[in-house]
Amino acid sequence: MAEFTDVDPVASEAPIAKHLLPISAHADEGGHLVIGGVRVEDLAQEFGTPLFIYDEDHLRARCQEAVAAFGYHASFATKAFLTKAMARLAFEEGMSLDVSTGGELEVVLAAGVPAERIVVHGNNKSESEITRAIEVGVGRLIVDSFDEIERLRTVGDFGSVRLSIRVTPGIEAHTHEFIMTGQEDSKFGFSLSSGDADRAIEAIRSIRGVTLDGAHAHIGSQILDFDSFRKEIELLAPFLARHQLTEFVVGGGLGVAYLNSESAPSLSSWAKAIREECALAAIPDDVAIGIEPGRAIVATAGVTCYRIGTIKEIPGVRTYVSVDGGMSDNPRPVLYRSGYEVFLPRNMTAPRSRAVRVVGKHCESGDIIVTDGRLPHDVKVGDLAVTPVTGAYGYSMASNYNRVTRPPVIFVSGGEAKIVARRETIEDLLRLEP
Ligand code: LLP
Repeated sequence: MAEFTDVDPVASEAPIAKHLLPISAHADEGGHLVIGGVRVEDLAQEFGTPLFIYDEDHLRARCQEAVAAFGYHASFATKAFLTKAMARLAFEEGMSLDVSTGGELEVVLAAGVPAERIVVHGNNKSESEITRAIEVGVGRLIVDSFDEIERLRTVGDFGSVRLSIRVTPGIEAHTHEFIMTGQEDSKFGFSLSSGDADRAIEAIRSIRGVTLDGAHAHIGSQILDFDSFRKEIELLAPFLARHQLTEFVVGGGLGVAYLNSESAPSLSSWAKAIREECALAAIPDDVAIGIEPGRAIVATAGVTCYRIGTIKEIPGVRTYVSVDGGMSDNPRPVLYRSGYEVFLPRNMTAPRSRAVRVVGKHCESGDIIVTDGRLPHDVKVGDLAVTPVTGAYGYSMASNYNRVTRPPVIFVSGGEAKIVARRETIEDLLRLEP
């Protein structure tokens, strides 16, 4: 097996770093990318491009890592990537599942996940979403606002559904403003410092038949250091004690590396830091601690494979490499200016000596996938190009902009590929219209 580089300190011509690829990924003797025992070029041939490819063993390994630390108090945040197959996989590996809308709830139920293993979030749950969640008997509903408390008063029978309160701890996590959620100025949850969280507890407990025994906070996403999580735990500990709450979910938010030059902590080291801080904050052992990772489970498990259709060189300016997808399958560069790497699966060990901007096929200039990418000098029209670390918030945020059909999703493992979501068709595009 040909080797490729480990962590490269400065983004450069170096081939793609191993830590950005799914665990089963390697280069075969000819330098071709293999994932799950299958050559990516063969997958593109069989399933077409663009194509979302997930390493099933990688997904399972990450779920196992979360469950090893927190048991079923580790919930997979389905917003990061949801298909029925993914919901089943997370459940099979022992995770619970977190949903934030009625739509996510229905997909997870359709996957056959038992309702008691589903946690329901949302800052604006409708009456019908609440009714449905209680009717099917979800494990937990996270109460997010005073208006929601009023809606809950009309529920006659909560059955076995337990409630938690979403607390806003007032922390500014170091991440992009749009994915920061723990600060005071937020649409989510009840503020701790103003006393709203305490008042909400009283109000919820005045509803007949409710069991409110948990607190939940989520301070943001793509967080790469543990300080904000430590602060969150420290702030929440007295609140848990004051209200005798016996479940505390720290949220999701653990970041991943997107570029050769980046590195990210593992789920296990995050779990260890959480446990240590809970002990330091004197949270009693009988309080169940939980996490809700999305990105850290699925991001690195997935890659996107595109085909290059045009290469436009503007002398003295830059080279545009256009692929057959774009902001409709990965809106993250446009939304958050997120950086990605790109490489050719036909020769993943080659130096990437040519500076390029990888763009999509949408009718707008902002349709950028890789702002400052590098590809081997012999890149040509017809080549396949792969962007790694697209497993989180790519397929789940995909759109039909410009009436582009959404790519299929395949899981690969042990030399086998299976379609977990087929490619959209023109019939799909037209199905809503009379
Ligand atoms: N729990 C709650 C309540 C959340 O709101 C989120 C993410 C998670 C868990 C999972 O967070 P993760 O572990 O994936 O960071 N679209 C953005 C990310 C938005 C995250 C929203 N909430 C992106 O592409 O970066």
